[in-house]
Amino acid sequence: MKIVKEQFAEFDGKVVTSYTMINKNGMEVTTIDYGCIITKILVPDREGIVENVVLGFDTLSEYQKYSPYFGAIIGRHAGRIANAEFELDGVNYHLAKNNNGNHLHGGLEGFDKVIWDTEVVEEEEATSLVFHYLSKDGEEGYPGNLKMKVTYTLNNQNELQLSYEGVSDKKTVVNVTNHAYFNLSGNLKRDTLNHTLTLKSDQFLELDEELIPTGKILSVENTAFDFRAGRRLIDGTVSNDPQNVLAGKGYDHPFLLNDNNNKEIHLFDEESGRGLIIETNQPAVVLYAGTQLEDNFSIRGVKSKKYLGLCLETQGLPDSLNHPQFPSAILEKDEVYHSITTFKFTN
Ligand code: BGC
Repeated sequence: MKIVKEQFAEFDGKVVTSYTMINKNGMEVTTIDYGCIITKILVPDREGIVENVVLGFDTLSEYQKYSPYFGAIIGRHAGRIANAEFELDGVNYHLAKNNNGNHLHGGLEGFDKVIWDTEVVEEEEATSLVFHYLSKDGEEGYPGNLKMKVTYTLNNQNELQLSYEGVSDKKTVVNVTNHAYFNLSGNLKRDTLNHTLTLKSDQFLELDEELIPTGKILSVENTAFDFRAGRRLIDGTVSNDPQNVLAGKGYDHPFLLNDNNNKEIHLFDEESGRGLIIETNQPAVVLYAGTQLEDNFSIRGVKSKKYLGLCLETQGLPDSLNHPQFPSAILEKDEVYHSITTFKFTN
């Protein structure tokens, strides 16, 4: 398999490099070492036309100015932590407040805004990019020196695997994900409201007005949150369910997955014939339907707007530190955190 390496930008006296992995079907994945951002994924539609299916930019300055985490790695802790604080073994930790007094997506300078060291691993049937970053004790308020390793692997089955590993020298919290905004129409021809999503999920988390989990777990039964038999994203925009309304007419919710590593998430665009199957070892997926996407910038010539892309963030539950009934995000000293997700593209 082939890999192309190019200079993308300069930042902080360092070079930001882009890497494009290309498989034998012509599928391409481009990433940069700044934030491990996936800038492009080129995949064929049912006619074989190869186009980009993620939101991204061609310059670093646009990422720094406009990007709501397009394609980036999110950490140490994805999602919101209420009042930017939590308690661990009797110690109160105060995190960076970057969202209405709450903590969001790792803080002011999270994993999405740093340059990662990169290694390329080339094999006959797959290519990997291995990114390393040391998140220092106290960074954004989190305890422990956390050594992170993120591996992106593309193979000839049109699968992109994302593997996240972390080890800390102190007890800490870790909940990492990737924040790609998908749009399977190709080169952002249409918004995502006619995409169909199928989710193996019976339950989702109730959110408050600040989009923080209340602690209540709700059933999807008889709601616009029932994606079990497939549902178009547009349903959330016309639903009167207070949960759809508070998310800005749509979805910005964690869904508990009934199953793992078994085609539990499936996104499909009928018009192009492109599909995306996501499998993970994580307990939840946050469906963010792009309800807060702003329209004051363009994305490779297409004006940004609400619903132009949607995120499927496989992860642990947000704010779990403040809800003991949720699966825990605590990582013990020297324990290995390992989260793994595969994106398989079909046409
Ligand atoms: C959050 C949204 C937020 C978006 C961009 C998503 O993961 O759930 O509430 O607006 O990221 O910051």
